[in-house]
Amino acid sequence: MTLDKKNAPVELNLIVCLGKDNLLGDASPEGNGLLWHSAEELRYYKSRTVGNVVLFGLTTAQFAPLQLMKKNRTVEVLDFGMDIDGILAKYADSGKSVFICGGYSIYKFFLENYALDHLYISRLKPRVPVAEAKSPLYFPDPAAFGYKLAESVEHEDFFAEVWDW
Ligand SMILES: NC(=O)c1ccc[n+]([C@@H]2O[C@H](COP(=O)([O-])OP(=O)(O)OC[C@H]3O[C@@H](n4cnc5c(N)ncnc54)[C@H](OP(=O)(O)O)[C@@H]3O)[C@@H](O)[C@H]2O)c1
Repeated sequence: MTLDKKNAPVELNLIVCLGKDNLLGDASPEGNGLLWHSAEELRYYKSRTVGNVVLFGLTTAQFAPLQLMKKNRTVEVLDFGMDIDGILAKYADSGKSVFICGGYSIYKFFLENYALDHLYISRLKPRVPVAEAKSPLYFPDPAAFGYKLAESVEHEDFFAEVWDW
């Protein structure tokens, strides 16, 4: 762990699905929602997050199926000015992990400020159609934040990468 990053009092992970060149989403007003659909990747996302805490930024929270997720996950939505350390502390000793689920601003904030235990990065294969982004958003290079690729498992639609310190 680097000294300039906060250590959370709970296992803190990030989960994201990316298209070519780390494409994350579309920043244009009509661009919310994922630019692709892969039932296989959604099952993977579910397998990682069910039973745990999923944490969203306000923008992503407006289009993510939060009511559905609340059935088997604890959902937290971040607004500016919230006590993030306090939110994370609620889950210390809960047996649950916290997953940072985006969007762009939230991913960036946590990469810059917290030492994350694992980054779960799904990289879509070219076989999955991706809608055009008017104003593309790109996920930062995890290596630039000190993470190293620990595992890459091939699935039909994507590679499931795990990045660790
Ligand atoms: N590919 C994927 O796996 C994936 C997953 C999720 C999202 N996405 C994409 O991400 C994009 C949305 O990203 P976004 O950046 O516009 O929205 P976002 O990260 O979902 O939400 C940003 C908002 O969260 C609030 N916030 C609270 N605490 C914050 C903090 N510490 N730092 C920054 N913001 C904080 C702010 O709301 P206020 O300013 O209103 O307080 C901010 O405007 C979409 O294109 C979506 O499709 C992709």
